[in-house]
Amino acid sequence: MVKGKKWILEKHFQGMPKRSDMKIVEFDLPTVPDGSFLVEAIYLSVDPYMRPYSARLPEGITMIGTQVAKVIETKNADFPVGTLVVCQGGWTTHSLCDKTNSGKIPPYPEGVPLSLALGTLGMPGMTAYYGLLEICAPKPGEVVVVSGAAGAVGSVVGQIAKIKGCKVIGFAGSDEKVAWLKELGFDEAFNYKTIKNLDATLKSVAPDGINCYFDNVGGEFACTVVANMAKHGRISCCGAISQYNDTAPPKLPSLFGTLVSNEIKMEGFIIFTHLQRWPEWTKQHIQWIKEFADQNKKLHVN
Ligand SMILES: NC(=O)c1ccc[n+]([C@@H]2O[C@H](COP(=O)([O-])OP(=O)(O)OC[C@H]3O[C@@H](n4cnc5c(N)ncnc54)[C@H](OP(=O)(O)O)[C@@H]3O)[C@@H](O)[C@H]2O)c1
Repeated sequence: MVKGKKWILEKHFQGMPKRSDMKIVEFDLPTVPDGSFLVEAIYLSVDPYMRPYSARLPEGITMIGTQVAKVIETKNADFPVGTLVVCQGGWTTHSLCDKTNSGKIPPYPEGVPLSLALGTLGMPGMTAYYGLLEICAPKPGEVVVVSGAAGAVGSVVGQIAKIKGCKVIGFAGSDEKVAWLKELGFDEAFNYKTIKNLDATLKSVAPDGINCYFDNVGGEFACTVVANMAKHGRISCCGAISQYNDTAPPKLPSLFGTLVSNEIKMEGFIIFTHLQRWPEWTKQHIQWIKEFADQNKKLHVN
């Protein structure tokens, strides 16, 4: 008989996650109740939010997460066997789903991989769209800075900002990533681990100040960017990955004087609050992907 396998969160993470915090267990596949369906995972996603979110959940749970999966047994006529879905199954090979925790994957253009349902055409892509276009609302010619720029969210933010006619400056943690950002069309890209002086670097590439900052990292890096914002700048607070593994509260310089004197808007968001708008944004992303393909540009999506 087929058994499922899943990752259990044995112990809450302290500092950097360790292999011993997790274990793999086998389980019998459940019987499918009316209205539900059993799916088999094709792709699992590993996302930064899992680190802070899992701290609020009890030990012993199946590790949380979204997956691309195929329906293999069903008692729901709307989800026949073979349907491809994105569902909140967690890190497991098989899970019982229903319409409350799953959505059908729309047909993608030829050549667009299904895994994008967990990337550019999924949660990270929607995050980039909302945080950049609705919070920062960049205008052509403005300067946009993106941290975590080579990640699933940041790489899409930079590409949308270029589509919108902005000057885009990205920061990532290796020279290989910096080279890739340049390939994507970023105007300037830097390895934040090796630059000598972030403040001086920002002043040299954005002498009139930064109009939009898409913040994926928080911490001291974000404080330095905020100190270089132009008048009426907009900051999208998307994540604070530099602090997720911290065990002590950070000691940071105060931002508030700059926020007041430069009349800056700073707004945090959680993308799942805006689920109803995902289909509209997905359509736009698919359109951009098609346009890139028509122009024979290499597809830079993850
Ligand atoms: N608000 C929302 O609804 C929402 C939704 C999705 C994601 N997020 C947030 O968006 C951010 C990016 O997510 P993602 O999906 O793009 O992640 P990702 O693809 O997993 O990329 C994360 C990258 O962050 C960088 N990083 C790790 N530790 C860092 C540190 N200490 N300082 C600076 N950079 C560090 C690493 O790249 P380098 O090698 O370049 O350092 C890493 O590859 C995260 O903060 C996440 O929590 C928020």
